[in-house]
Amino acid sequence: DLYYILYLIYCKNAYYLIFFKGMKSPMLAPSLLSADFGNLEKAIKQIEENNGSVVHIDVMDGQFVPEITYGQPIVRSIRKLTKLPFDVHLMVDNPEQQIESFAKAGADWIDFHLEATNHAHRLIQMIHDFGKKAGVAICPGTPISALSELLESADIILVMTVNPGWGGQKIIPSCVKKVVDLKNIRQKKGYKFLIGVDGGVNSETLAYVKDAGADVIVSGSAFFNNTLNWS
Ligand code: DX5
Ligand code: ZN
Repeated sequence: DLYYILYLIYCKNAYYLIFFKGMKSPMLAPSLLSADFGNLEKAIKQIEENNGSVVHIDVMDGQFVPEITYGQPIVRSIRKLTKLPFDVHLMVDNPEQQIESFAKAGADWIDFHLEATNHAHRLIQMIHDFGKKAGVAICPGTPISALSELLESADIILVMTVNPGWGGQKIIPSCVKKVVDLKNIRQKKGYKFLIGVDGGVNSETLAYVKDAGADVIVSGSAFFNNTLNWS
Protein backbone atom coordinates (compact mmCIF):
# COMPACT_ATOMS: atom_id res chain seq x y z
CA ASP A 1 0.00 0.00 0.00
CA LEU A 2 3.01 2.23 -0.03
CA TYR A 3 4.00 4.42 -2.92
CA TYR A 4 7.23 6.27 -3.56
CA ILE A 5 7.87 9.51 -5.45
CA LEU A 6 11.30 10.63 -6.55
CA TYR A 7 11.99 14.26 -7.52
CA LEU A 8 15.15 15.48 -9.21
CA ILE A 9 15.67 19.15 -8.41
CA TYR A 10 18.29 21.49 -9.81
CA CYS A 11 19.27 24.28 -7.43
CA LYS A 12 22.41 26.38 -7.01
CA ASN A 13 24.43 24.45 -9.59
CA ALA A 14 23.70 21.09 -8.06
CA TYR A 15 21.14 18.31 -8.52
CA TYR A 16 19.21 17.03 -5.51
CA LEU A 17 17.24 13.84 -5.33
CA ILE A 18 14.21 14.04 -3.03
CA PHE A 19 12.38 10.93 -2.00
CA PHE A 20 8.79 10.78 -0.68
CA LYS A 21 7.05 7.82 0.80
CA GLY A 22 3.25 7.76 1.26
CA MET A 23 0.22 5.53 1.72
CA LYS A 24 -2.14 4.96 -1.19
CA SER A 25 -5.61 6.18 -0.39
CA PRO A 26 -8.52 3.96 -1.38
CA MET A 27 -10.99 4.78 -4.15
CA LEU A 28 -14.54 5.66 -3.22
CA ALA A 29 -17.20 3.89 -5.27
CA PRO A 30 -20.63 5.34 -4.42
CA SER A 31 -23.45 2.88 -5.10
CA LEU A 32 -26.36 4.16 -7.17
CA LEU A 33 -28.65 1.75 -5.31
CA SER A 34 -29.35 4.42 -2.71
CA ALA A 35 -29.72 7.29 -5.19
CA ASP A 36 -33.01 8.84 -6.25
CA PHE A 37 -33.80 6.82 -9.39
CA GLY A 38 -35.97 9.70 -10.54
CA ASN A 39 -32.89 11.86 -10.92
CA LEU A 40 -29.86 9.81 -11.84
CA GLU A 41 -28.20 12.82 -13.46
CA LYS A 42 -28.14 14.57 -10.09
CA ALA A 43 -26.83 11.40 -8.44
CA ILE A 44 -23.93 11.17 -10.89
CA LYS A 45 -23.12 14.83 -10.26
CA GLN A 46 -23.11 14.18 -6.51
CA ILE A 47 -20.67 11.32 -7.06
CA GLU A 48 -18.38 13.49 -9.18
CA GLU A 49 -18.46 16.37 -6.70
CA ASN A 50 -17.96 14.30 -3.55
CA ASN A 51 -14.77 12.31 -4.18
CA GLY A 52 -16.27 9.42 -6.12
CA SER A 53 -13.70 7.68 -8.33
CA VAL A 54 -15.96 4.94 -9.63
CA VAL A 55 -19.74 4.59 -10.05
CA HIS A 56 -20.91 1.34 -8.47
CA ILE A 57 -23.98 -0.04 -10.22
CA ASP A 58 -25.87 -2.85 -8.46
CA VAL A 59 -27.72 -5.08 -10.88
CA MET A 60 -30.24 -7.43 -9.23
CA ASP A 61 -32.38 -9.96 -11.06
CA GLY A 62 -35.00 -11.10 -8.52
CA GLN A 63 -33.40 -14.58 -8.58
CA PHE A 64 -29.90 -14.44 -7.13
CA VAL A 65 -31.28 -11.81 -4.74
CA PRO A 66 -34.98 -11.06 -4.18
CA GLU A 67 -35.26 -7.56 -5.65
CA ILE A 68 -34.87 -6.26 -9.20
CA THR A 69 -33.03 -3.03 -9.94
CA TYR A 70 -31.91 -1.95 -13.38
CA GLY A 71 -30.19 -3.35 -16.43
CA GLN A 72 -28.36 -2.53 -19.61
CA PRO A 73 -30.71 0.23 -20.89
CA ILE A 74 -30.15 2.31 -17.74
CA VAL A 75 -26.38 1.80 -17.91
CA ARG A 76 -26.46 2.85 -21.57
CA SER A 77 -28.36 6.03 -20.85
CA ILE A 78 -26.29 7.16 -17.85
CA ARG A 79 -23.04 6.31 -19.67
CA LYS A 80 -23.10 9.66 -21.44
CA LEU A 81 -23.37 11.61 -18.16
CA THR A 82 -19.84 10.99 -16.86
CA LYS A 83 -16.36 9.83 -17.70
CA LEU A 84 -15.97 8.02 -14.37
CA PRO A 85 -15.55 4.26 -14.71
CA PHE A 86 -18.66 2.12 -14.19
CA ASP A 87 -18.34 -0.82 -11.84
CA VAL A 88 -21.24 -3.12 -12.62
CA HIS A 89 -21.90 -5.49 -9.72
CA LEU A 90 -23.96 -8.35 -11.10
CA MET A 91 -26.12 -9.93 -8.42
CA VAL A 92 -27.70 -12.23 -10.97
CA ASP A 93 -27.94 -15.92 -11.77
CA ASN A 94 -26.30 -17.05 -15.01
CA PRO A 95 -23.97 -14.04 -15.17
CA GLU A 96 -22.36 -15.48 -18.34
CA GLN A 97 -25.46 -14.37 -20.24
CA GLN A 98 -25.02 -10.74 -19.22
CA ILE A 99 -21.32 -10.05 -19.77
CA GLU A 100 -21.37 -9.07 -23.43
CA SER A 101 -24.40 -6.78 -23.18
CA PHE A 102 -23.11 -4.94 -20.10
CA ALA A 103 -19.69 -4.59 -21.70
CA LYS A 104 -21.37 -3.01 -24.73
CA ALA A 105 -23.66 -0.86 -22.57
CA GLY A 106 -20.64 0.88 -21.04
CA ALA A 107 -19.40 -1.11 -18.04
CA ASP A 108 -15.68 -0.75 -17.31
CA TRP A 109 -15.50 -3.27 -14.50
CA ILE A 110 -17.83 -6.25 -14.37
CA ASP A 111 -18.13 -8.11 -11.06
CA PHE A 112 -19.96 -11.43 -10.99
CA HIS A 113 -20.70 -13.57 -7.94
CA LEU A 114 -18.65 -16.70 -7.44
CA GLU A 115 -21.80 -18.29 -5.99
CA ALA A 116 -23.72 -17.69 -9.23
CA THR A 117 -21.54 -19.65 -11.65
CA ASN A 118 -19.74 -22.95 -12.12
CA HIS A 119 -17.33 -21.30 -14.55
CA ALA A 120 -15.70 -18.41 -12.77
CA HIS A 121 -12.40 -18.82 -14.57
CA ARG A 122 -14.06 -18.76 -17.98
CA LEU A 123 -16.09 -15.71 -16.98
CA ILE A 124 -12.94 -13.78 -16.11
CA GLN A 125 -11.57 -14.67 -19.54
CA MET A 126 -14.82 -13.57 -21.19
CA ILE A 127 -14.74 -10.20 -19.41
CA HIS A 128 -11.12 -9.72 -20.44
CA ASP A 129 -11.96 -10.62 -24.03
CA PHE A 130 -14.30 -7.62 -24.06
CA GLY A 131 -11.47 -5.45 -22.80
CA LYS A 132 -12.99 -4.94 -19.34
CA LYS A 133 -11.74 -5.43 -15.78
CA ALA A 134 -12.98 -8.61 -14.18
CA GLY A 135 -14.25 -8.64 -10.60
CA VAL A 136 -15.21 -11.64 -8.49
CA ALA A 137 -17.64 -10.93 -5.64
CA ILE A 138 -18.10 -13.21 -2.64
CA CYS A 139 -21.01 -13.35 -0.21
CA PRO A 140 -20.37 -13.40 3.55
CA GLY A 141 -20.78 -17.19 3.63
CA THR A 142 -18.07 -17.85 1.04
CA PRO A 143 -14.49 -18.26 2.31
CA ILE A 144 -11.61 -16.67 0.43
CA SER A 145 -10.09 -20.14 -0.04
CA ALA A 146 -12.74 -20.62 -2.76
CA LEU A 147 -11.01 -17.88 -4.75
CA SER A 148 -7.54 -19.40 -4.77
CA GLU A 149 -7.48 -20.39 -8.47
CA LEU A 150 -8.84 -17.00 -9.55
CA LEU A 151 -6.61 -14.58 -7.70
CA GLU A 152 -3.98 -14.50 -10.40
CA SER A 153 -6.33 -13.42 -13.17
CA ALA A 154 -9.01 -11.37 -11.36
CA ASP A 155 -8.62 -7.59 -11.39
CA ILE A 156 -10.76 -7.05 -8.32
CA ILE A 157 -12.07 -9.17 -5.50
CA LEU A 158 -15.26 -7.66 -4.12
CA VAL A 159 -15.69 -8.73 -0.52
CA MET A 160 -19.34 -8.42 0.46
CA THR A 161 -19.55 -7.24 4.05
CA VAL A 162 -23.34 -7.65 4.12
CA ASN A 163 -25.53 -10.25 2.46
CA PRO A 164 -26.23 -8.92 -1.02
CA GLY A 165 -29.65 -7.62 -1.91
CA TRP A 166 -30.28 -4.38 -0.04
CA GLY A 167 -28.61 -1.14 0.90
CA GLY A 168 -28.49 0.18 4.44
CA GLN A 169 -27.60 -3.05 6.26
CA LYS A 170 -25.17 -3.42 9.15
CA ILE A 171 -21.60 -4.45 8.39
CA ILE A 172 -20.59 -8.02 9.31
CA PRO A 173 -17.21 -7.54 11.05
CA SER A 174 -15.91 -11.07 10.38
CA CYS A 175 -16.08 -10.32 6.64
CA VAL A 176 -13.65 -7.43 7.02
CA LYS A 177 -11.03 -9.92 8.18
CA LYS A 178 -11.14 -11.39 4.65
CA VAL A 179 -9.65 -8.13 3.39
CA VAL A 180 -6.62 -8.52 5.64
CA ASP A 181 -6.19 -12.15 4.58
CA LEU A 182 -6.48 -11.29 0.89
CA LYS A 183 -3.93 -8.53 1.28
CA ASN A 184 -1.47 -10.95 2.83
CA ILE A 185 -1.95 -13.51 0.07
CA ARG A 186 -1.56 -10.80 -2.58
CA GLN A 187 1.70 -9.66 -1.09
CA LYS A 188 3.06 -13.17 -0.64
CA LYS A 189 2.24 -14.28 -4.18
CA GLY A 190 2.83 -10.98 -5.97
CA TYR A 191 -0.72 -10.80 -7.34
CA LYS A 192 -2.18 -7.55 -8.65
CA PHE A 193 -5.93 -7.66 -7.85
CA LEU A 194 -7.63 -4.81 -6.05
CA ILE A 195 -9.67 -5.50 -2.94
CA GLY A 196 -13.14 -3.98 -2.78
CA VAL A 197 -15.46 -3.81 0.21
CA ASP A 198 -19.22 -3.60 -0.32
CA GLY A 199 -21.89 -3.17 2.33
CA GLY A 200 -22.41 -1.37 5.60
CA VAL A 201 -19.74 1.29 5.17
CA ASN A 202 -20.70 4.47 7.00
CA SER A 203 -18.98 7.14 9.09
CA GLU A 204 -18.55 4.68 11.97
CA THR A 205 -17.15 1.75 9.99
CA LEU A 206 -15.14 3.61 7.35
CA ALA A 207 -11.88 3.78 9.32
CA TYR A 208 -12.10 0.08 10.15
CA VAL A 209 -12.49 -0.81 6.48
CA LYS A 210 -9.67 1.53 5.43
CA ASP A 211 -7.36 0.10 8.08
CA ALA A 212 -8.09 -3.43 6.89
CA GLY A 213 -6.57 -2.37 3.55
CA ALA A 214 -9.47 -2.03 1.10
CA ASP A 215 -8.49 -0.43 -2.23
CA VAL A 216 -12.04 0.27 -3.34
CA ILE A 217 -14.76 1.19 -0.87
CA VAL A 218 -18.40 1.01 -1.95
CA SER A 219 -20.91 3.14 -0.10
CA GLY A 220 -24.60 3.49 -0.87
CA SER A 221 -26.85 4.74 1.91
CA ALA A 222 -24.23 6.71 3.87
CA PHE A 223 -22.91 8.38 0.72
CA PHE A 224 -26.35 9.50 -0.49
CA ASN A 225 -27.42 10.53 3.06
CA ASN A 226 -24.36 12.79 3.09
CA THR A 227 -23.12 11.17 6.30
CA LEU A 228 -20.07 9.23 5.06
CA ASN A 229 -17.41 11.83 6.00
CA TRP A 230 -14.92 10.73 3.38
CA SER A 231 -11.80 12.87 3.33
C1 DX5 B 1 -25.79 -4.59 -1.61
C2 DX5 B 1 -25.09 -3.86 -2.70
C3 DX5 B 1 -24.34 -2.69 -2.22
C4 DX5 B 1 -25.18 -1.64 -1.55
C5 DX5 B 1 -24.39 -1.12 -0.40
O1 DX5 B 1 -26.34 -5.76 -2.06
O2 DX5 B 1 -24.20 -4.69 -3.38
O3 DX5 B 1 -23.52 -2.13 -3.23
O4 DX5 B 1 -25.53 -0.56 -2.37
O5 DX5 B 1 -25.20 -0.27 0.31
P1 DX5 B 1 -24.79 0.29 1.75
O6 DX5 B 1 -23.55 1.09 1.56
O7 DX5 B 1 -25.99 1.12 2.12
O8 DX5 B 1 -24.60 -0.89 2.65
ZN1 ZN C 1 -22.71 -3.69 -4.77
